[in-house]
Amino acid sequence: MAAGPALTAEPAFTGGVGNRRDGRLNPDSNELKALVHKITDLPTLPAMMATITRLMQDPRTSAEELGRAIATDPALVSKVLKLVNSAFYGFPGRISTITQAIVILGFSTIRNVVLTTSVLKAFGRNSTQNGFDVARFWEHSLLTGAIARSLAVERDANFVEETFIAGLLHDMGRIVLSQKLAAEFEKVIQVQARTGVSQLQAEQSVLKLTHGEIGGWLARKWNLPVPYVEVMRFHHFPLESIIQDPNTQIDTTNLIYLVHAADVLSKRLVDGKPDLIASEAIDPAVRAELKIGPEGWDRFQARTEEEIGKARSFLDML
Ligand SMILES: [Fe+2]
Ligand SMILES: [Fe+2]
Repeated sequence: MAAGPALTAEPAFTGGVGNRRDGRLNPDSNELKALVHKITDLPTLPAMMATITRLMQDPRTSAEELGRAIATDPALVSKVLKLVNSAFYGFPGRISTITQAIVILGFSTIRNVVLTTSVLKAFGRNSTQNGFDVARFWEHSLLTGAIARSLAVERDANFVEETFIAGLLHDMGRIVLSQKLAAEFEKVIQVQARTGVSQLQAEQSVLKLTHGEIGGWLARKWNLPVPYVEVMRFHHFPLESIIQDPNTQIDTTNLIYLVHAADVLSKRLVDGKPDLIASEAIDPAVRAELKIGPEGWDRFQARTEEEIGKARSFLDML
């Protein structure tokens, strides 16, 4: 497939349920409050997450100190060591202690590893309940993460790893909806089956909001870093986020654009290569902003297969 021409041949963006809505939605709309009120058994993140976040906010925290905190959880220690020694991070078999891992890979990598491990544990990976296939959900999440990472490399972003994690977690609202709001999820599925609209449109007609708002709510409740909150909330409406977090080097707007594009491309993935002629197109403003020329798309496609393999090995180790 010729990557360059395929891009320009992409059908015009139709916006699904409308890519630009009037103004930025109140993060705590009445609909959202009423909905999340029904959730009684939301999993919590381990206390370790809060400890790590607190330590990371203090610039005086040393690698030894963070290492000591993580060392109180032996299961976590072995997972972190397994991951940081995997091909994903590029130091196979060379890191033997948590402190060494922190020194070599940095505080935020360790936080990302712990975060991903905790989130996956909180929601499980292999069950099928009320028609929601969890394994398929994680496959989509993995592909989105890998493609987003590949796009971030192409764009020379300085938050490549965070882009992967954001892609991996972008649809958490869908898993909350299916597992914790079963009656509402059932209605969404029924509307979708009866009318043939997309899941996003069905969510909007039944709930007056989407899994984006639910995911954003969850991310805030879990005190996840702001860029992740914004990606979960706005990946279907990439032009609506206006928040920049002064505590991070990550360009949140860019991160949302990358995950939005990766989400679309992952749904069109054929034979390990994203098909750029996507029927659900990338927002044209985002595509223009990504500024990836024809050679860039060729490189991106070639790299993506490798990224998917690495992402798979990352997830297999959790
Ligand atoms: Fe989504
Ligand atoms: Fe998605």
